[in-house]
Amino acid sequence: MRYKSQSVAYWYFAVAMVLFGLQLVFGLLSATKYLGPDPLLNILPFDVTKVIHTNLLIVWVLTGFMGATYWMVPDESRTELHSTKLAYIQLGLWTAMGVTAVIGYLFGYGTGNKLLEQPLPHKIVIVICMLIFLYNIGMTIKKSGRFTTTEGVLLLGLVSSAVLFFPALLHYENYTVSIFYRWWTIHLWVEGVWMMIMGAFLAYLLIRLSGADREVLEKWLYVIVGLVFIAGILGTAHHYYWVGVPHYWLPIGGFFSALEPLAIIGMAMYAYSAMRRSGMAHPNSLALHWTLGSTIFTLFGAGLLGLAHTWPSINKWTHGTLITAMHGHAAFYGAYAMIVLAMITYALPSLTNKRPEQGTTIGYWAFWLQLAGMFGMTLSFATAGIGQVYLERIMGMGYLDAQLKIQIHFVMLISTACIFSLGVGLFIYDFFSYRPRFEVDANEAMETNFAAERAV
Ligand code: HEM
Ligand code: HEM
Ligand SMILES: [Fe+2]
Repeated sequence: MRYKSQSVAYWYFAVAMVLFGLQLVFGLLSATKYLGPDPLLNILPFDVTKVIHTNLLIVWVLTGFMGATYWMVPDESRTELHSTKLAYIQLGLWTAMGVTAVIGYLFGYGTGNKLLEQPLPHKIVIVICMLIFLYNIGMTIKKSGRFTTTEGVLLLGLVSSAVLFFPALLHYENYTVSIFYRWWTIHLWVEGVWMMIMGAFLAYLLIRLSGADREVLEKWLYVIVGLVFIAGILGTAHHYYWVGVPHYWLPIGGFFSALEPLAIIGMAMYAYSAMRRSGMAHPNSLALHWTLGSTIFTLFGAGLLGLAHTWPSINKWTHGTLITAMHGHAAFYGAYAMIVLAMITYALPSLTNKRPEQGTTIGYWAFWLQLAGMFGMTLSFATAGIGQVYLERIMGMGYLDAQLKIQIHFVMLISTACIFSLGVGLFIYDFFSYRPRFEVDANEAMETNFAAERAV
């Protein structure tokens, strides 16, 4: 830690860890309901557990993004944060928003708009938190006068995420109109501007971990941003196939969304070539595992498994089935969960006392168990989804009859999810095993200063 104010990141990461653990509890609850009978049917039905599962995911990932930004910006701009007080106020408001939203869902309060279920007052608090956050980051950069390309791409991603939240604040009576605008937030987040956030964290990590040349890496960032714009924006149309809009959206969606994996392939190539060119200059090899792991898993979950059902001719069979859940899990985990875990693993030795720089044995177990578990979960959703599409959509069997036939895949889902949860449990245990540190270590400040000079 070169700047004292970077320690706010620890508390953001700590909140993210708790919410991540809670997300899995509700994931497991949702999965067991597929095996029935459900003793909790009248207290915690599937719709409630799923809403809590997915909303906790969005909230913890965003908390992780914010913490990682508060960690990275002082490092890049070489200055203290504009205001740590504002950062803590923001965290308090944000956590209160997240917790009360979950309590509300338990009692059936929510808009019913998938992934954007927060009631209006909560959405307003989200906007206030985003404004505080962007103001704090903006002032920090302005004060320092040093603004790197990596930071620029991060900021572009964060500001655009806030802007794209606005369609979610409005209420639409017509369901087609409501679905149409929902994707402006959800699709353009995960396949657009969050990709920029991921690309920026990736560039930051690769520069620090591999000692690769900043200029070369930042040129690649422009390519990624360009590809995201070209393919991601019109690629939104892959959600418009069957929602009641004109037919011309079908070829537009098919063509542009099929180009989307290019940016993801670009990111994986860029990570791989950075490693090859520069070797491993940094002792924190656990953070390197998470960084490279994230690019490879994204290539699998988003690039390959996204492409697999993005063509209209395939999507007409798979739309809204467990095939979607297969892709949703692998893509979200690879791209956004793993990049946040990579930033945490990179920052943690400096944010805590006496933690070994190269990572702990438990840390490595956490990595491999999560990877194995999530891979197994993806396969379970895939096999369940193939069975479902065949029985329900091709053979014309009723929804519930088809579900009974594919129950065995949910046994596999729960088993692999337990392996995954063990990995997450170990990560959380490892996170809280070392006490947070609030002081800047003089030696480390010197060392990182040299490293930063080399990396300019
Ligand atoms: C990291 C990037 C990505 C993430 C996190 C992600 C996540 C998701 C999630 C959560 C859903 C379900 C949304 C819902 O029904 O509310 C979804 C749907 C979908 N995704 Fe992705 N995705 C990513 C990238 C991609 C890419 C690159 C493609 C295409 C090449 C793609 C193709 C699709 C399609 C076609 C659907 C709709 C499935 C259906 O019709 O039910 N995704 N994605
Ligand atoms: C213990 C581990 C987990 C279990 C057992 C689990 C289980 C489930 C289940 C049963 C659903 C409902 C699927 C349906 O609508 O039929 C679901 C939805 C979802 N989960 Fe998980 N999950 C787990 C972890 C995760 C993780 C780590 C992520 C992301 C990083 C994630 C992201 C999602 C998303 C995006 C959806 C919505 C998908 C859609 O609507 O198609 N889950 N999960
Ligand atoms: Fe999409």
